[in-house]
Amino acid sequence: MRAATDILDISPVIPVVVLDDATHAAPLAQALQRGGIRTIEVTLRTPVALEAIERINGEVEGITVGAGTITQPGQAKEAARAGAGYLVTPGTTDRLLDEVADTELPALPGVSTVSEALRLAERGMRALKFFPAEPAGGVPYLKSLSSPLPELSFCPTGGITPDNAGRYLALPNVRCVGGSWLAPKEALAKGDWGHIEALARQAVALG
Ligand code: 3PG
Repeated sequence: MRAATDILDISPVIPVVVLDDATHAAPLAQALQRGGIRTIEVTLRTPVALEAIERINGEVEGITVGAGTITQPGQAKEAARAGAGYLVTPGTTDRLLDEVADTELPALPGVSTVSEALRLAERGMRALKFFPAEPAGGVPYLKSLSSPLPELSFCPTGGITPDNAGRYLALPNVRCVGGSWLAPKEALAKGDWGHIEALARQAVALG
C-alpha cells in the first residue's frame, strides 16, 4: 500500500471533481490522463460518486482514484469498498480520523490551523490537505508553517487556480495542489474531453 506522502507526488495537481453522471467518470479520467494527470479525486457529494469511483477503477488503467469530501459516518468504508486508492477529508474530527484509519487507506486529512496540523502530526500523519487554502491564509500562511512544522507536507485546495498554483507549488512544504478547475461543469455536460485534456496538460506544466 502507498504511503499518504506518496499520494502528494503522483501529479502536481489533484483534480477535484463533482460528477452528476457516472457515465462521465471514465472519459473524464481518460482525458485527464491524456493530459498527463495520473490521479483524480471524486468527491462524495453526489449520489453517483461511488459508482464513478468503481467505473474509473474498472475502465481506466494507470490512474489512482481517490475519494474526497469524506465527512459522514460510513463514507470512508463505502469509498474503500468502491475501490478508492486514497481518502481526502475537508476537516478532521476524531470519529472521521478513526474511520479513515480503519480502512488502512492512505489519507489526506484537511486542516486549516496550526493546532489541527499539530494534532495530526501527533497521530503520525505527515501529508495533509490545507483547506480552504485561499480563505484560510493562502501562500503566506502555508509558508509560515514550513519552519515550525518542517515534517509536514500539504496539498492546498480551495481557491487554487492556474494563476496562483505556481506560487503554492514553489513552497517547500507543498508537494501538489488540488483544484476543481480541471473539470468544469460545462465541459462535463458537453462531453468536451479535448478541453479537459488541454486543462490537464496546462496543469502538469505548472509542476
Ligand atoms: C472543494 O472541496 O471543492 C475543493 O477544495 C475545490 O475547491 P475549488 O473549487 O476552489 O478548486
